[in-house]
Amino acid sequence: MTGGAGFIGSGLVRGLLAKGASRVAVVDSLLTGYERNLDEVRGSVDFHKVDIRDYDTVRKAMEGIDVVFHEAAIPSVPRSINEPLPSHDVNINGTFNVLRAAKDAGVRRVIYAASSSAYGDTLILPKVETMLAAPKSPYAAQKLMGEYYMSVWASCFGLETVSLRYFNVFGPRQDPGSQYSGVLSLFISAILDRKTPTIFGDGGTSRDFTYVEDVVGLNIKAAEAPSSVSGKVFNGGNGGRITLNEAWNLLQKFEGVSIPANYGPERPGDVRDSQADTTAAVRELGHAPQVSFEDGLRKTLEWYRSARQA
Ligand SMILES: NC(=O)c1ccc[n+]([C@@H]2O[C@H](COP(=O)([O-])OP(=O)(O)OC[C@H]3O[C@@H](n4cnc5c(N)ncnc54)[C@H](O)[C@@H]3O)[C@@H](O)[C@H]2O)c1
Repeated sequence: MTGGAGFIGSGLVRGLLAKGASRVAVVDSLLTGYERNLDEVRGSVDFHKVDIRDYDTVRKAMEGIDVVFHEAAIPSVPRSINEPLPSHDVNINGTFNVLRAAKDAGVRRVIYAASSSAYGDTLILPKVETMLAAPKSPYAAQKLMGEYYMSVWASCFGLETVSLRYFNVFGPRQDPGSQYSGVLSLFISAILDRKTPTIFGDGGTSRDFTYVEDVVGLNIKAAEAPSSVSGKVFNGGNGGRITLNEAWNLLQKFEGVSIPANYGPERPGDVRDSQADTTAAVRELGHAPQVSFEDGLRKTLEWYRSARQA
């Protein structure tokens, strides 16, 4: 797995081990990930502190591997606007390198962490895989290029690939420590500190927040699916739609506090509304999300609370 020390990757490592994998090889540069994310499972992980752009080392780490989960990326819309060069280099050239190394090492299948940001602002919700992609940020364009490379590697080079367009993923171990962090990790930190969060825009921006365990389950289904899914793109969302105001209100309700949010300007590159059509993932991968937004948010809040006490 690439990016296995990150938020989603470290959850996926745990999911694979729980499913019976005896060991998981992880390639991660620790740019935004942490080795501590793998603490309790470290004994079952072969950890390589490697940049995915380093072909020789990545190829060596892939020897004998059947399925590669490609999670490594610089995963942020605003970061891709503030620092477009590293974002491009890791998300596009790094992905190219992972595919080349996987093919040369004899890997059977690569599952790719694609992004719902590829859709841009669609006229119709929910968003279906057959809609024309219209990226609004460098990050969205980069992740879409990765999908195109996945399908081309399947058609031209005989490597099985599956792209999973994650919608906003949240849950334990998401890092709230930077301006580029996922919005719910920032909201949860704010509510635990009894601080005012900043919402960019009017708070009516909506997202299909998806609990990380559902994304882990989807990846495992994509690894097990027949080769007829190769080259395809599937939504990896929950199917719901929650506004930022609703999410912040729910956290205040859970904690029994009233802390009005600050509102800042809308950010360039941000999509207004997002919601997944899950039909294709259900039909072809047999995946159905299990965790509602409210349950996932409660679990995540409790995880952050206990992580602070540890
Ligand atoms: N979190 C979401 O809501 C979301 C939504 C859509 C897509 N995704 C995609 O899911 C994947 C995982 O995202 P995440 O939220 O867990 O982010 P994360 O930042 O926690 O994980 C990314 C991991 O990639 C590693 N990495 C970065 N550059 C690297 C490089 N050059 N070489 C090796 N490792 C490198 C980081 O150290 C980190 O561990 C990313 O590909 C992201 O684009 C995430």
